[in-house]
Amino acid sequence: MKHISISNRALSAPPSPVRKLVPFADMAKSKGLTVYHINIGDPDFPMPKEIQQTLQDVTRNLVRIPYANSKGLQSTLAGWKKYYHDVGIELSTDDILITQGGSEALILSAAITMDPGDEFIVFEPFYANYNSFGNLVSARAVPVQLDGENGYHLPSDEEIRKAITPKTKAIFFTNPNNPTGTVFTKEEVRRIVDLALSNNLFLVSDETYRGICFDSVKMVSVMDVASEKEKQQIILTDSVSKRLNACGTRIGVIISKNAEVMDAAFRFAQGRLSVGYIDQEIVAPILHDSLGYLSWLTNQYESRRNAFLTELENQLHISIHKPEGAFYTMLQLPIENAEDFAKWLLTDFSDNNETVMVAPGSGFYATPGKGMREVRVAYVLDEKKLQRAAQLLALGLKAYQKSK
Ligand SMILES: Cc1ncc(COP(=O)(O)O)c(C=O)c1O
Repeated sequence: MKHISISNRALSAPPSPVRKLVPFADMAKSKGLTVYHINIGDPDFPMPKEIQQTLQDVTRNLVRIPYANSKGLQSTLAGWKKYYHDVGIELSTDDILITQGGSEALILSAAITMDPGDEFIVFEPFYANYNSFGNLVSARAVPVQLDGENGYHLPSDEEIRKAITPKTKAIFFTNPNNPTGTVFTKEEVRRIVDLALSNNLFLVSDETYRGICFDSVKMVSVMDVASEKEKQQIILTDSVSKRLNACGTRIGVIISKNAEVMDAAFRFAQGRLSVGYIDQEIVAPILHDSLGYLSWLTNQYESRRNAFLTELENQLHISIHKPEGAFYTMLQLPIENAEDFAKWLLTDFSDNNETVMVAPGSGFYATPGKGMREVRVAYVLDEKKLQRAAQLLALGLKAYQKSK
């Protein structure tokens, strides 16, 4: 029998760098170790009470779980419209389509803006799954380097333009940023819009962490700086995952004022029929009034960030990029191979039966050899646990250096 082979796209689909070490963490746990997970952005906060209550109300007498409209339930669309109104961005429900998390919104954005062989600009280090989304539509992520020395803010326009070729169709921009925690300034956001316009590119702005900003830094959206005409080239993606601590509901959104984009999104969405009916129902009410919760959440993260960074600096004796938003930062470690170190923490190290899990930095880069000495950490545990995680990281680092 002839060998049957899968597609080249399937062969080249990248594994998640964040989840790559999970089998080693599972092994450590099966040996009885406690693993502090600062490797993944899956926060431990309770979701808003309203979601818990609505979940009970919606499911109490449910005898059937129907499909929702492919575009989304009216109540959920209205909820998103109200959330955006509350943050000063006026949308009509024609501009919104509900997706399976921000992830599907990004996949749709890739499929809408690019053909096989096309390219899109990403700012490196970048959210690693952009590689997967590009791969799904056979398009390539082309990296523009960000520099830790200037807080991972944007390089000059000239530097960015160097990465643009005739194949470039879109810029994927993450603000606030994962993995660096950088919040881009109004001037930078305006620059990105101008670059997209002057090069006739779509600007896909991933604002999954919108509003989680510290030290009085204010989130500026691409929608805040662009004129109505300019918005024709903009696609915004968003999600309830992080802002409402409801990652598992899988509710996100794709937003554009470009009718052709939204019509394409709708036709793609018809192919996958519907986003979960219960999931949409349970987030709809809180979307009408979520800013109070967001303000509470932001204060929590700010205080976690401060505690965690202080402990890391005390323990590791390195200077650390202070993130302005989201809940991540990149650490530069005095080692040659951070992936080997991250694995070693799970396979060869423990202190009092405990260890820590971090995400190797190289997975956030497309340029070979970059990020080898970096790890990304997420402050998604309570302050005490974060302090212990920082201690474990420092103890592990010392022991690792000794063992090499
Ligand atoms: C920058 C960024 N975009 C998009 C997503 C997708 O999240 P979800 O699909 O849960 O909305 C994530 C998740 O971690 C993220 O960090």
